[in-house]
Amino acid sequence: MIRDATIFDIPHLNELGTLLNPNFSTLYNLKEMLEDGYSKVIVYEKDNLIVGFITATHLYETCDILSLIVDPEFRRHHIATNLIGYLITDLGENLKLITLEVAKHNKAALKLYDKFGFKIIHERKDYYANDDAYLMARKSDLSE
Ligand SMILES: CC(C)(COP(=O)(O)OP(=O)(O)OC[C@H]1O[C@@H](n2cnc3c(N)ncnc32)[C@H](O)[C@@H]1OP(=O)(O)O)[C@@H](O)C(=O)NCCC(=O)NCCS
Repeated sequence: MIRDATIFDIPHLNELGTLLNPNFSTLYNLKEMLEDGYSKVIVYEKDNLIVGFITATHLYETCDILSLIVDPEFRRHHIATNLIGYLITDLGENLKLITLEVAKHNKAALKLYDKFGFKIIHERKDYYANDDAYLMARKSDLSE
Protein backbone atom coordinates (compact mmCIF):
# COMPACT_ATOMS: atom_id res chain seq x y z
CA MET A 1 0.00 0.00 0.00
CA ILE A 2 1.22 3.50 -0.83
CA ARG A 3 0.08 6.40 1.35
CA ASP A 4 1.09 9.78 2.71
CA ALA A 5 3.31 9.52 5.77
CA THR A 6 2.06 10.49 9.21
CA ILE A 7 3.91 11.81 12.22
CA PHE A 8 3.99 8.28 13.68
CA ASP A 9 6.11 7.07 10.73
CA ILE A 10 8.90 9.58 11.30
CA PRO A 11 11.21 7.51 13.58
CA HIS A 12 11.20 4.60 11.12
CA LEU A 13 11.68 6.89 8.12
CA ASN A 14 14.67 8.56 9.79
CA GLU A 15 16.12 5.10 10.43
CA LEU A 16 15.65 4.07 6.78
CA GLY A 17 17.02 7.48 5.75
CA THR A 18 20.39 6.70 7.30
CA LEU A 19 20.89 4.22 4.45
CA LEU A 20 21.08 7.26 2.17
CA ASN A 21 22.87 9.59 4.54
CA PRO A 22 23.99 9.00 8.15
CA ASN A 23 22.83 12.55 8.95
CA PHE A 24 19.44 12.10 7.31
CA SER A 25 17.37 13.31 10.28
CA THR A 26 19.37 16.51 10.61
CA LEU A 27 19.35 17.17 6.86
CA TYR A 28 15.61 16.69 6.49
CA ASN A 29 13.06 17.76 9.06
CA LEU A 30 10.28 15.30 8.19
CA LYS A 31 7.89 16.71 10.80
CA GLU A 32 8.18 20.14 9.21
CA MET A 33 7.75 18.60 5.76
CA LEU A 34 4.48 16.96 6.83
CA GLU A 35 3.15 20.35 7.90
CA ASP A 36 4.55 22.89 5.43
CA GLY A 37 1.96 22.41 2.70
CA TYR A 38 4.46 22.14 -0.16
CA SER A 39 6.30 18.93 0.69
CA LYS A 40 5.36 15.33 0.04
CA VAL A 41 6.41 12.37 2.16
CA ILE A 42 5.01 9.17 0.68
CA VAL A 43 5.58 5.70 2.09
CA TYR A 44 5.32 2.17 0.70
CA GLU A 45 3.98 -0.26 3.26
CA LYS A 46 4.15 -4.04 3.06
CA ASP A 47 2.50 -6.14 5.78
CA ASN A 48 2.25 -3.03 7.98
CA LEU A 49 5.96 -2.33 7.65
CA ILE A 50 7.33 0.69 5.79
CA VAL A 51 9.84 -0.64 3.28
CA GLY A 52 10.43 2.48 1.22
CA PHE A 53 9.64 6.16 0.95
CA ILE A 54 10.04 9.20 -1.23
CA THR A 55 10.19 12.87 -0.24
CA ALA A 56 9.78 15.86 -2.50
CA THR A 57 8.92 19.52 -2.50
CA HIS A 58 6.48 20.89 -5.03
CA LEU A 59 5.78 24.48 -5.96
CA TYR A 60 3.24 25.28 -8.66
CA GLU A 61 4.20 23.21 -11.70
CA THR A 62 7.59 21.99 -10.47
CA CYS A 63 8.66 19.25 -8.10
CA ASP A 64 12.08 18.41 -6.65
CA ILE A 65 12.65 14.85 -5.43
CA LEU A 66 14.79 15.07 -2.29
CA SER A 67 15.12 11.46 -1.22
CA LEU A 68 14.07 8.00 -2.34
CA ILE A 69 15.00 4.96 -0.31
CA VAL A 70 13.98 1.32 -0.38
CA ASP A 71 14.90 -1.17 2.35
CA PRO A 72 17.70 -3.35 0.90
CA GLU A 73 15.69 -6.53 1.56
CA PHE A 74 12.89 -5.28 -0.69
CA ARG A 75 14.82 -3.83 -3.62
CA ARG A 76 14.17 -4.82 -7.24
CA HIS A 77 10.46 -5.29 -6.59
CA HIS A 78 9.51 -2.03 -8.30
CA ILE A 79 8.80 -0.29 -5.01
CA ALA A 80 10.75 2.82 -6.06
CA THR A 81 9.02 2.72 -9.44
CA ASN A 82 5.64 2.65 -7.72
CA LEU A 83 6.58 5.48 -5.36
CA ILE A 84 7.67 7.74 -8.22
CA GLY A 85 4.56 6.80 -10.19
CA TYR A 86 2.35 7.60 -7.22
CA LEU A 87 4.06 10.97 -6.68
CA ILE A 88 3.61 11.94 -10.33
CA THR A 89 -0.06 10.93 -10.32
CA ASP A 90 -0.65 12.64 -6.98
CA LEU A 91 0.75 15.96 -8.19
CA GLY A 92 -1.57 15.82 -11.17
CA GLU A 93 -1.51 17.20 -14.67
CA ASN A 94 -0.33 20.67 -13.62
CA LEU A 95 3.07 19.14 -12.95
CA LYS A 96 5.43 20.21 -15.73
CA LEU A 97 8.91 19.56 -14.42
CA ILE A 98 10.55 17.21 -11.90
CA THR A 99 14.16 17.65 -10.87
CA LEU A 100 16.51 15.70 -8.62
CA GLU A 101 20.17 15.22 -7.78
CA VAL A 102 21.76 11.81 -7.92
CA ALA A 103 25.30 10.65 -7.22
CA LYS A 104 27.20 10.11 -10.46
CA HIS A 105 28.13 6.52 -9.56
CA ASN A 106 24.71 5.45 -8.26
CA LYS A 107 24.04 3.08 -11.13
CA ALA A 108 20.79 1.68 -9.72
CA ALA A 109 19.22 5.11 -9.27
CA LEU A 110 20.46 6.35 -12.65
CA LYS A 111 18.86 3.35 -14.37
CA LEU A 112 15.62 3.91 -12.49
CA TYR A 113 15.45 7.61 -13.38
CA ASP A 114 16.38 6.90 -16.98
CA LYS A 115 13.39 4.55 -17.18
CA PHE A 116 11.16 7.43 -16.11
CA GLY A 117 12.57 9.69 -18.81
CA PHE A 118 14.80 11.84 -16.61
CA LYS A 119 17.68 13.45 -18.50
CA ILE A 120 21.02 14.63 -17.15
CA ILE A 121 21.08 18.39 -17.51
CA HIS A 122 24.07 19.38 -15.39
CA GLU A 123 26.97 17.91 -13.45
CA ARG A 124 27.76 19.24 -9.98
CA LYS A 125 31.36 18.55 -9.02
CA ASP A 126 31.97 17.34 -5.44
CA TYR A 127 28.30 17.77 -4.59
CA TYR A 128 28.48 14.79 -2.23
CA ALA A 129 31.27 13.98 0.21
CA ASN A 130 32.55 11.17 -2.02
CA ASP A 131 31.00 11.77 -5.41
CA ASP A 132 29.87 14.28 -7.99
CA ALA A 133 26.19 14.68 -8.72
CA TYR A 134 24.04 14.81 -11.78
CA LEU A 135 21.16 17.23 -11.82
CA MET A 136 18.40 15.42 -13.69
CA ALA A 137 15.11 16.70 -15.00
CA ARG A 138 11.95 15.20 -16.42
CA LYS A 139 9.45 17.23 -18.36
CA SER A 140 5.85 16.14 -18.10
CA ASP A 141 5.43 15.70 -21.82
CA LEU A 142 8.02 12.91 -21.85
CA SER A 143 6.53 9.45 -21.78
CA GLU A 144 7.09 7.29 -18.68
C1 LIG B 1 17.70 3.28 -6.08
C2 LIG B 1 16.61 2.54 -5.29
C3 LIG B 1 15.66 3.57 -4.66
C4 LIG B 1 15.83 1.65 -6.27
O1 LIG B 1 14.75 1.03 -5.57
P1 LIG B 1 14.04 -0.29 -6.10
O2 LIG B 1 12.71 -0.40 -5.45
O3 LIG B 1 14.96 -1.45 -5.93
O4 LIG B 1 13.89 0.04 -7.65
P2 LIG B 1 12.89 -0.66 -8.67
O5 LIG B 1 12.69 -2.09 -8.31
O6 LIG B 1 11.68 0.18 -8.83
O7 LIG B 1 13.78 -0.61 -10.01
C5 LIG B 1 13.31 -0.02 -11.20
C6 LIG B 1 14.39 -0.17 -12.26
O8 LIG B 1 15.57 0.53 -11.88
C7 LIG B 1 16.73 -0.22 -12.29
N1 LIG B 1 17.46 -0.70 -11.11
C8 LIG B 1 17.04 -0.65 -9.81
N2 LIG B 1 18.01 -1.16 -9.01
C9 LIG B 1 19.02 -1.53 -9.81
C10 LIG B 1 20.29 -2.11 -9.57
N3 LIG B 1 20.70 -2.44 -8.34
N4 LIG B 1 21.11 -2.33 -10.64
C11 LIG B 1 20.72 -2.02 -11.89
N5 LIG B 1 19.50 -1.45 -12.18
C12 LIG B 1 18.68 -1.22 -11.15
C13 LIG B 1 16.22 -1.40 -13.07
O9 LIG B 1 16.11 -1.00 -14.41
C14 LIG B 1 14.84 -1.60 -12.46
O10 LIG B 1 13.93 -2.23 -13.30
P3 LIG B 1 13.92 -3.84 -13.40
O11 LIG B 1 14.05 -4.38 -12.00
O12 LIG B 1 12.61 -4.16 -14.06
O13 LIG B 1 15.11 -4.21 -14.22
C15 LIG B 1 17.23 1.63 -4.20
O14 LIG B 1 18.28 0.85 -4.77
C16 LIG B 1 17.78 2.37 -3.00
O15 LIG B 1 17.07 2.63 -2.03
N6 LIG B 1 19.08 2.73 -3.06
C17 LIG B 1 19.73 3.44 -1.95
C18 LIG B 1 19.21 4.86 -1.85
C19 LIG B 1 19.38 5.62 -3.15
O16 LIG B 1 20.41 5.51 -3.81
N7 LIG B 1 18.35 6.40 -3.52
C20 LIG B 1 18.37 7.23 -4.69
C21 LIG B 1 19.02 8.51 -4.33
S1 LIG B 1 18.74 9.74 -5.56
